[in-house]
Amino acid sequence: MMLPCFPPLVLLCSAFSLGHPCPAICSCMDYHTIDCRGRGLPHLPTPFPLDVRKLLIANNNIQKIPEDFFVFHSDLVYLDFRNNSITTLEDGTFSSSSKLVYLDLSYNNLTQLGAGIFRSAERLIKLHLGNNHLVAVDEAAFESLDQLQVLELNHNDLKALDVAALEALPSLRILHLEGNPWLCNCDFASLFRWLEENAFKLPKGLSEIQCTVPMEDNSIFLSELTEASFRDCKFRLSLVDLLIIIFSGAAVSIAAIISSFVLALLVNCFQRCAPSKDDEEEDEED
Ligand SMILES: *[C@@H]1O[C@H](CO)[C@@H](O)[C@H](O)[C@H]1NC(C)=O
Ligand SMILES: *[C@@H]1O[C@H](CO)[C@@H](O)[C@H](O)[C@H]1NC(C)=O
Repeated sequence: MMLPCFPPLVLLCSAFSLGHPCPAICSCMDYHTIDCRGRGLPHLPTPFPLDVRKLLIANNNIQKIPEDFFVFHSDLVYLDFRNNSITTLEDGTFSSSSKLVYLDLSYNNLTQLGAGIFRSAERLIKLHLGNNHLVAVDEAAFESLDQLQVLELNHNDLKALDVAALEALPSLRILHLEGNPWLCNCDFASLFRWLEENAFKLPKGLSEIQCTVPMEDNSIFLSELTEASFRDCKFRLSLVDLLIIIFSGAAVSIAAIISSFVLALLVNCFQRCAPSKDDEEEDEED
């Protein structure tokens, strides 16, 4: 909110600005809105006004959100951190972010999201995580985000996603999952079922998401799949099960081969040793 600086308020206004100077490299539209976009920043400028509510810091080279950032800036409602170089989010980074409503971390270098990483950001409504390098999203990554309405995970490196991560979002209205290398194997069946039921949350429906069929090397649109495509999966073993069976089978066979070899050796030995006795006995009889 912009305070109008009528003459009687000028003193008050300058008192505010003195107490909370705008970082020199940024521009401040009002006392609570700081714009540091595209300044080539390698980290957040310090000192930083504590009462910032809206921070635009997109298009820089910042590699990390300091772990205690929200401890000092707990009034933040809107954080645009798009197009920086963030590779990881530390546990607890968002622990004092209870006012945060909008968080844009798209076009960064995130590779995974751990359990409860946004736990305290309970008011979050929009969460942009598109165009990162996410390969793993924990099933509890979005826990406690009861207000979240918009989630973008598009254009990452996700081959799979535990459907529990999405089921944890009761207010979700818009979901972007396109542009990921989804693998439509049996593990994908439960996510597919959820997406079919919630297709209205995908801006372009099932036809905007492609997945790769294992063994065959082609992509198909989810709209070409049906529940029946995964029918065999109910009875089929997962790859891990299969490997365990093959390997335990191999172990059993190897054990069997070794023990029969030992047995054969023993028998052979007995046959060699025993007959000599027999021969002696036979000789005696003769
Ligand atoms: C990211 O920011 C750089 C400037 O730091 C800009 O040149 C580039 O176009 C931006 N990319 C996107 C996708 O916004
Ligand atoms: C992002 O990570 C990739 C490797 O995963 C690296 O090549 C690239 O330079 C990183 N980009 C930034 C902006 O840190």
